[in-house]
Amino acid sequence: MTTTLQSNACVTAIGTYVPGHIITNSDLEKLVDTSDEWIVQRTGIRERRALSQGEGAFDLVVGAVHNMTERYGIPLDDVDYIIVATSTPDTVFPSMAARIQSRFGISGCGAVDLQAACAGFTAALQLGNALLLTGIYRKILIVGVDALTTVTDYTDRTTCILFGDGAGAMLLERASSGGGGCMLASYSDTDGSGGHHVYLSNSANRIDEHELLDHGKIVQNGREVYRWAVSHVSEGIRKLMAGSGMDAEQLNWFVPHNANQRIIDALCERTGFRPEQALSSISRYGNTSAASIPLALDDAVKDGRVQSGDTLLLYGFGGGLTQAGVIMRWSL
Ligand code: UT7
Repeated sequence: MTTTLQSNACVTAIGTYVPGHIITNSDLEKLVDTSDEWIVQRTGIRERRALSQGEGAFDLVVGAVHNMTERYGIPLDDVDYIIVATSTPDTVFPSMAARIQSRFGISGCGAVDLQAACAGFTAALQLGNALLLTGIYRKILIVGVDALTTVTDYTDRTTCILFGDGAGAMLLERASSGGGGCMLASYSDTDGSGGHHVYLSNSANRIDEHELLDHGKIVQNGREVYRWAVSHVSEGIRKLMAGSGMDAEQLNWFVPHNANQRIIDALCERTGFRPEQALSSISRYGNTSAASIPLALDDAVKDGRVQSGDTLLLYGFGGGLTQAGVIMRWSL
């Protein structure tokens, strides 16, 4: 469903973090029958980051939130809601959001984790904007984090080359003047009948009539997900733009989920974006699921490509199969 949004939300800070350990393509050549050339050609990925022994996804969260507060100096004690998008929390409960509340000493706030796989960060932005519009909340902390290397099957060459770990944080605040916010349009769509094409299961052994492996690692039919991404996701992006009254030429930046550089290129081709409008950090980080959009965006914020007033189309898609996109005006 597409909506032109009412919004009073402004982005007032962004921060990101990746762990120090690097897994290169040549490291993976030692584990499975693959090659640097195949991985680069088919995915654009050269290396990805991974947690080290003793680290967890919450360390990534803390790193991203610290990075944000150090850069923007905004206090967190008056945050009144925390949303963490993740498929790989260290603990299912307490939620990662509740652990942020405790770690950063934020009192009197709501805290939830949200699970929408690679669409998680943009789904969290949609929900954060809706919460601000109620008039009850003023300042919302949104985090996208995933530690996919902890659920990657390093004997499966079709998936282990893809995934990495990282986190991104963003503050959404109600515009002080009560003026217009930065969220301009929103789109969501889900096709649960394709859920068995990419899944992570600990206990379920079937989805509808489809039998699942339940070994707690990501299982993916890459070709099916690729096909869905190029056809249905591009259609969703076009609907989002149509609903906003803007086309790719009028928008400054396209920030798709970084799943595969070939998917990003195909989405550009089918939606009218020029390749240089698409923000991608996939060559260095791989597919980091809920963290990939803030990681790609923050690179461009840090090097000055994304400027205040620019319009951005952020688009997450993946497991579910689900997709969620927003068009926003950058307000930093
Ligand atoms: O973030 C969640 C959403 N996920 C995605 O969006 C991922 C979508 N899918 C993809 O990105 C791609 O499908 C992959 C990167 C996973 C695979 O690329 P592909 O171009 O679709 O390859 P394919 O599955 O069609 O396989 C082509 C060949 C096969 O060999 P045969 O059957 O043609 O002999 C595979 O066995 O490549 C082989 N292959 C590999 N060869 C070397 C598959 N993985 C590898 C590998 N190294 N790592």
